[in-house]
Amino acid sequence: MKNSEELKEIVKEKYGPIAEQDKSINAASCCGATTASIKVYNIMMDDYSDVEGYEADADLGLGCGLPTQYAHIAEGDTVIDLGSGAGNDCFVARHETGVEGKVIGIDFTPSMITKARINAEKLGFNNVEFIEGDIDDIPVTNEMADVVVSNCVLNLVPDKEKVIREIYRVLKPGGHFSISDIVLVGQLPDALKKDAEMYAGCVAGAIQKVDYLDHIKQSGFKGIQIQKEKVITIPEDILYKYLSESEIIQFSKGETGIFSISVYAEKPGQKLEKPRLNSQNYGQIAVNPVPVAVNIMKHNKLTFFPKLVAAVKSLSIDSISRERKDMLQVLIQYIRQRLDDKRDVKLNFICTHNSRRSQFAQIWAQTAADYYGIEVKCYSGGVEVTSFNERAVETIKAEGFMVTKIGERNPTYSIFHSQNAEPISAFSKLYDDPVNPASKFSAIMTCSHADENCPYIPGAEARISLNYEDPKEYDNTKEEEMKYNERSCQIAAEMFYVFSMIEK
Ligand SMILES: C[S@@+](CC[C@H](N)C(=O)[O-])C[C@H]1O[C@@H](n2cnc3c(N)ncnc32)[C@H](O)[C@@H]1O
Repeated sequence: MKNSEELKEIVKEKYGPIAEQDKSINAASCCGATTASIKVYNIMMDDYSDVEGYEADADLGLGCGLPTQYAHIAEGDTVIDLGSGAGNDCFVARHETGVEGKVIGIDFTPSMITKARINAEKLGFNNVEFIEGDIDDIPVTNEMADVVVSNCVLNLVPDKEKVIREIYRVLKPGGHFSISDIVLVGQLPDALKKDAEMYAGCVAGAIQKVDYLDHIKQSGFKGIQIQKEKVITIPEDILYKYLSESEIIQFSKGETGIFSISVYAEKPGQKLEKPRLNSQNYGQIAVNPVPVAVNIMKHNKLTFFPKLVAAVKSLSIDSISRERKDMLQVLIQYIRQRLDDKRDVKLNFICTHNSRRSQFAQIWAQTAADYYGIEVKCYSGGVEVTSFNERAVETIKAEGFMVTKIGERNPTYSIFHSQNAEPISAFSKLYDDPVNPASKFSAIMTCSHADENCPYIPGAEARISLNYEDPKEYDNTKEEEMKYNERSCQIAAEMFYVFSMIEK
């Protein structure tokens, strides 16, 4: 018997490749299972093509209903879609909420999130975000949603009661949900339920309809209604694969069966007047951030991710040596001077490959500046283009930054330190790349090699040496992770020291 975590891993592994493949392949089965017949699952899927807001690239053919059709989404609503896949229902919901609303898709399969974000970017929506997370621990604060929708997902979750309690928690008083799902009526033979392919095919993890509705009721919801119900016809090839002759006869009598339902329920309480986008509290989102940044001005109050704040608080600023402080003083003075002169402050961190130290320095300097609300723009570059090293990317993720990636060779990473800030864009580039300032900047040399080999940086009005040791020396050793973390934390501590001194 597999435990919950193992079952979730099976589901996650299943949906990774499904995100990459075409709808026509997935459409051969509900939820992308590979063994089933087209006949069954075309019955499960609803046709979205005429639905307003429908985005074909987001439709992977994985649904078993059309919850947004029954969800009574109003303009300005905040909607959460649980198990959002490539965003199919999110974009339909966005059509209903309009620009003043907000749609948050949550899915635990990273490639689904990536695909959904690409779709959102392509559509240019700045109020649809996708968060990587588990829906049995929904990564948003209490009472933030007007509406929750979900399409063919709860059946995949081992602890459905927990998810329903979570839905209750995240809904505002007076909020409601509409969820499409697969449920069972009567006892299905074990052979069918145990099959892992069928599990990811949305049947083996499905529970009895009465139990499903009972969990909803026990969680405190009112006004529970089944808005739509369809029987799922099982074709003979599948029945013969899993059932004996006698079981098939029993099944076809119709007392047992598999159903797709859309169920609605309300959280008791009085609905308050809707807040507008700019004053909306999206809460401390604990996992991935807004890939298409919410349109809030930088230097408004930023909500830094809690894990990152904890990492910053644990930095050893006090242990920065006197010698290093003297070196940092040059940078402090440069920044102070420019701010006093009311001129833009542009810092270009330079290292040979722009792959580790200069990236750490750009990210931490920008984060520290934003943290203290100091108007500074940080850049990075090198003398050779490689890529932002993946170990370094993992290091900053572990420290609490949220990271999205586009591309394969020398990918562009968007690094978020807080929910409502613009991302820091990170990729390997030359120090004089067009995205970097051409003049009136300070070149900060973060490695001795670049420091020695680039005596002249055109356009730089100041040059500061702040060399760091290369964690690369420890690649593929037992100390690798520790050394990357050590270097990142050293740079972080120094940058926070610099900007804390400027704040004083
Ligand atoms: C059948 S697909 C449905 C996708 C989407 N709702 C649609 O209709 O296109 C199920 C989705 O739920 C996600 N999922 C399953 N269990 C989950 C969990 N515990 N937390 C978050 N996402 C989950 C999967 O990664 C997958 O993307």
